[in-house]
Amino acid sequence: SSASALPRDLEGRRVVISAGGTREPLDPVRYLGNRSSGRQGYALARVAAHRGAEVVLISAHTADLVEPAGVRVVHVGTAEQLRESVLAESQGADAVVMAAAVADFRPVDLAQHKIKKVDADPAPVKLTRNPDILAELVERRRDGELDTGLIVGFAAETGDPDTPVLDHGRRKLDRKGCDLLVVNTVGDGKAFEMEDNAGWLLSTDGTETPLPHGAKSLLSARLWDAVTRRLGERS
Ligand code: CTP
Ligand code: CA
Repeated sequence: SSASALPRDLEGRRVVISAGGTREPLDPVRYLGNRSSGRQGYALARVAAHRGAEVVLISAHTADLVEPAGVRVVHVGTAEQLRESVLAESQGADAVVMAAAVADFRPVDLAQHKIKKVDADPAPVKLTRNPDILAELVERRRDGELDTGLIVGFAAETGDPDTPVLDHGRRKLDRKGCDLLVVNTVGDGKAFEMEDNAGWLLSTDGTETPLPHGAKSLLSARLWDAVTRRLGERS
């Protein structure tokens, strides 16, 4: 296999990766979800393990993916469960990569029994905000409660007539306060449920690396290159 050609530059590093889409239950059989396949997070985990890292993959709902060899996989459902796992595993990690598509909102009420169809129109579903896990990681590290090397976010952006994708990305990097942000261009069939990605890797050191259209394993390699470079600058 090609694994032997990969650098073992993550040897001795422990990395935490979240992947997939959270599901927020409405009743015992229904949920609010999203179309994330989890492929990017799984590819990141596989590449990191090949490069020698100890990898924890915190997986929300994904397509039918094979668990990467040599990776500890923790399965979660909701954003709150994802938060619990990510915060616990991130303590002492060299890098945390939030590749999961976290639901921004969840239903306020969880019906204990299956909601039954009635003749009248249903009551509107009331939603409330989920915790922002990435923002909380940044905040806890700043407050000295969390010892984590690098914090990496992902953003899928369509852009709009006023603001191109890259500007949305720059603003999100500022707003989130993470060290690195992978910005993916979506729309026109890109990114969601596709094998390929294209976008930019933005760093708080000012570096803006274009990510060419290619396999998710290639994007993973570029991201771990950037992570090892930034970790190396510190130690
Ligand atoms: N994220 C998170 N917790 C949330 C929402 C998002 O940790 N509740 C993380 C994602 O895993 C991703 C990053 O934040 O790494 C950016 O997610 P995104 O949805 O693009 O950002 P939002 O701040 O939710 O902004 P919006 O959806 O309005 O664009
Ligand atoms: Ca969001």
